[in-house]
Amino acid sequence: MKKEELYSGKAKTIYKTDNPAELISEFRDSLTAFDGKKKSEAKNKGYFNAQISKKIFEMLEEEGIPTHYIKMVSDTEMLVKAVEIILIEVIPRNIAAGSITRKYPIEEGTVFENPVIVMDYKSDEHGDPMMNEDIAVAMGIATYEEIAQIREMALKINEILKNYLGEKGFLLPDFKLEFGRVDGKIVVADEISCDTCRFWDKTTGASMDKDIFRFDKGDLSKTYEEVAKRIVPEIFE
Ligand code: C5P
Repeated sequence: MKKEELYSGKAKTIYKTDNPAELISEFRDSLTAFDGKKKSEAKNKGYFNAQISKKIFEMLEEEGIPTHYIKMVSDTEMLVKAVEIILIEVIPRNIAAGSITRKYPIEEGTVFENPVIVMDYKSDEHGDPMMNEDIAVAMGIATYEEIAQIREMALKINEILKNYLGEKGFLLPDFKLEFGRVDGKIVVADEISCDTCRFWDKTTGASMDKDIFRFDKGDLSKTYEEVAKRIVPEIFE
């Protein structure tokens, strides 16, 4: 049963439950970008992202990748395992877009021969600076073994997602993963949705993700609905 709010982030609110090992993650319609400087709301965004995330977590579990996902408790609320979050944002990149094209002389659209795994320290206060294994170990965030395991998992998830989304008509330039520990095991946490991935339409190259909001490229609710129609067609039946 849902109990008091544990914490509210930019797009999700986390609630305690009767069971200390389980939390409820509620996907909200609020949106932020550029470290919270740009804010908005989009109708049904929480619903579409929750359903997309659910489907991707279930698919990853089937492929043998452990995640924090347990089950949906409503259209926008997911029961998840309480994890000890590892403060690293892991970004697998297949095609150059976004910050990598601003920080390095790499042109947008450059296809990487090998996936590029970027790790950032998850800290709004510090502006999510780049992280590496030595810094992570020095800060006590993770061990060398854990970082190696996270990298392996990120590469595997990237392959699985790239193929899965390719079949649904998307290119996957990049996406963000978060990991946590539960009973000493590393699991995928947070969400995998239109807010945390770049989805480009395979045919037109059009953005079908949060870049719509970041760069005022169109109607976000309609676009997320289009993504949901391809990934979770069953919710429209
Ligand atoms: O900002 P950048 O271009 O580096 O983002 C790379 C990918 O990671 C994008 O898909 C973006 O949506 C995601 N991301 C995220 N949360 C952040 C930073 C990036 O979901 N805090």
